Amino acid sequence: MVGDAAVAKDNFPTSVINVVEHPLVAHKITLLRSVDTGSAEFRALCGEVTLLIAYEALRDLPTSTTSVTTPITDTESLELAGIAPAVVGILRAGLVMVDALLTLLPQARVGHLGMYRDPETHQPVPYYNKLPTSIDKREVIVVDPMLATGGSAVAALDSLVEAGCTKLRLLSIIGCPEGITAVQQAHPTVPITLAALDDHLNDRAYIVPGLGDAGDRIYGTL
Ligand code: PRP
Ligand code: URA
Repeated sequence: MVGDAAVAKDNFPTSVINVVEHPLVAHKITLLRSVDTGSAEFRALCGEVTLLIAYEALRDLPTSTTSVTTPITDTESLELAGIAPAVVGILRAGLVMVDALLTLLPQARVGHLGMYRDPETHQPVPYYNKLPTSIDKREVIVVDPMLATGGSAVAALDSLVEAGCTKLRLLSIIGCPEGITAVQQAHPTVPITLAALDDHLNDRAYIVPGLGDAGDRIYGTL
């Protein structure tokens, strides 16, 4: 279904799923998929794709009017409203997206949720949880490159809802219908932005065609 994302996307409400269709994103996704792309290039590409899709994912961040003095005059101008947003990375692979988002939102606070997939059950196993103060008042951007079964994303969103968060959005690089459906069922109001919507999961719950194990490719632990 790669290259036919528009068809798959139509199966989901547009308020929920946004697949960023852009030649730069598509080109970088092809490089990310390639088995010949090494860790250093893979990390850089993940960061670049994150910047491009974050631009779309954050389009509706609330703004307020402020005053600014330019070298020419005083004027009214927009700034991000409210307290600083929070970027929450799902470890390990989400870290590479956190760094990219911090270049766009240097004022953001950062949370970390550690979990890995059990190789047999494919269920997320949590091992770490550290969230910024006042997380419940912040716009929260959850980042993880892969949305496969959706188990990790749902577990992350569950713990954020438990912490009182209401302004949540999920940013992933590659997703598949199974993952979207899982998130949509558990958290129907959370918007999901992807760089690519792939076809399906294989019998080991890896995304097909996907890019393999994101964490292993980022950190060279293959
Ligand atoms: C990967 C990925 C997601 C998860 C997605 O992490 O980064 O967190 O799998 O799969 P799911 O949608 O089926 O839950 P992994 O568990 O391999 O841990 P790692 O990042 O530490 O390698
Ligand atoms: N986690 C990954 O890193 N890749 C997949 O395809 C599925 C889960």
